[in-house]
Amino acid sequence: MRLRNKPWAKPLIEENPDFVVTEPTKLKGKWHTRFQNNNPIFVEIGMGKGRFIVEMAKKNPEKNYIGLELQTVAVGIALKKQLEEKLPNLQLICANGSGLGEYFEKGEIAGIYLNFSDPWPKKRQTKRRLTYKTFLEQYKEVLDSDGHIEFKTDNQGLFEYSLVSMNNFGMKFDGVWLDLHSSPEAEDNVMTEYEEKFSKKGQPIFKLEAHF
Ligand SMILES: C[S@@+](CC[C@H](N)C(=O)[O-])C[C@H]1O[C@@H](n2cnc3c(N)ncnc32)[C@H](O)[C@@H]1O
Repeated sequence: MRLRNKPWAKPLIEENPDFVVTEPTKLKGKWHTRFQNNNPIFVEIGMGKGRFIVEMAKKNPEKNYIGLELQTVAVGIALKKQLEEKLPNLQLICANGSGLGEYFEKGEIAGIYLNFSDPWPKKRQTKRRLTYKTFLEQYKEVLDSDGHIEFKTDNQGLFEYSLVSMNNFGMKFDGVWLDLHSSPEAEDNVMTEYEEKFSKKGQPIFKLEAHF
């Protein structure tokens, strides 16, 4: 998903260093000082416009949340939501998820969310998928020993690929849902922007939970 450039996004991010971290490597191993507590930290990679991570932070004040996103415009849109709420347990990072091991210390993270990640359907694009083995290696490094990954998508091909990739990596599955919204799991589900869009079209939503 490429968003059209918004000239206000970069200045807005620069004006709000309390909410957006532009140099996450400087906080490696020190994220608890940023949140000023020792609560567990959960990261969404590719948060897009931020609806999910803002809702999660609102719903669970006893947990810390970080929304990480590559596109400056998307971070700007998510920041607008955070500026309305000013949630102390939410930070945003404008960076590439491929650098996760540079932003977080071993075991610093309690959970990772991958929501409606770009499918990169062509074979030559496999390495860009957020469930490709090089990404899984980094997730393994930064997650604590009880750490989990939750992955949701509307894309059956990416879901099938991710099951195989995670299985080949030796991950264990705690749950797999082929139609999340028709299952009891839907009760606690927090929707993302993409999730709402696709489920309104009648598409089933796939979900898995897994750990290393
Ligand atoms: C299809 S959108 C989904 C957005 C949101 N999670 C949702 O469900 O509404 C995927 C998002 O992931 C971001 N993204 C893709 N690859 C990324 C990476 N390597 N690091 C950080 N963000 C990434 C894209 O810029 C895009 O905003």
